[in-house]
Amino acid sequence: MKDITDVEKKIKNKGINLNNLGFWAIGIRLFHFLTQILPEGSSILEIGSGSGTVELSKLYRVYSIENNVEYVGLTNKATYIYAPLKDGWYDVGILRDVLKEITYEAIIVDGPSQAAGGRKGFIDNIDLFDVGVWIIVDDINRPCDLHIYKTLAEMLNRKTVEIKECDKSFGVICKNDWISSNT
Ligand SMILES: C[S@@+](CC[C@H](N)C(=O)[O-])C[C@H]1O[C@@H](n2cnc3c(N)ncnc32)[C@H](O)[C@@H]1O
Repeated sequence: MKDITDVEKKIKNKGINLNNLGFWAIGIRLFHFLTQILPEGSSILEIGSGSGTVELSKLYRVYSIENNVEYVGLTNKATYIYAPLKDGWYDVGILRDVLKEITYEAIIVDGPSQAAGGRKGFIDNIDLFDVGVWIIVDDINRPCDLHIYKTLAEMLNRKTVEIKECDKSFGVICKNDWISSNT
């Protein structure tokens, strides 16, 4: 495991604002967790953009799928994939074209919002994604997202870790080559 003081130093040096995390955005513990599993400069595919995208992109190459123009382009460091909703999830035609062109080491499932239809479409359209990577499902304190996480974990049959934040929890489907002594 990386020394936590190294992570704190990096956060400071990169101008990462932890106040932008939590609530709607990914939480601080998830951010720290990512720094433990992914080297700086790794690529992350985030599903659902927000202020967390801005902070993540200071450390990682972030591709962020978003349906609401209000949250597209909050930073010019991330690559936004604008995909309006269609039939209760992102327009699959748009995602299919873009996703075949990119590679990533982790997926964060954090959109669409419940009000916009929720995340079930991720499972229904799993063939769009490289699922051999780390998969993080945010908000598994909510029954609907816990169900998505459990379904994925069963489908993929990989080691999982659940981590509690102060206001929510996230679930991790580990990459296959992750050695258990690292956790
Ligand atoms: C949980 S948010 C995604 C947050 C994002 N992953 C982050 O870390 O900032 C899910 C969806 O809610 C919307 N959203 C993002 N930030 C919001 C906010 N502050 N208030 C209301 N909706 C927001 C966006 O459409 C986004 O796709």
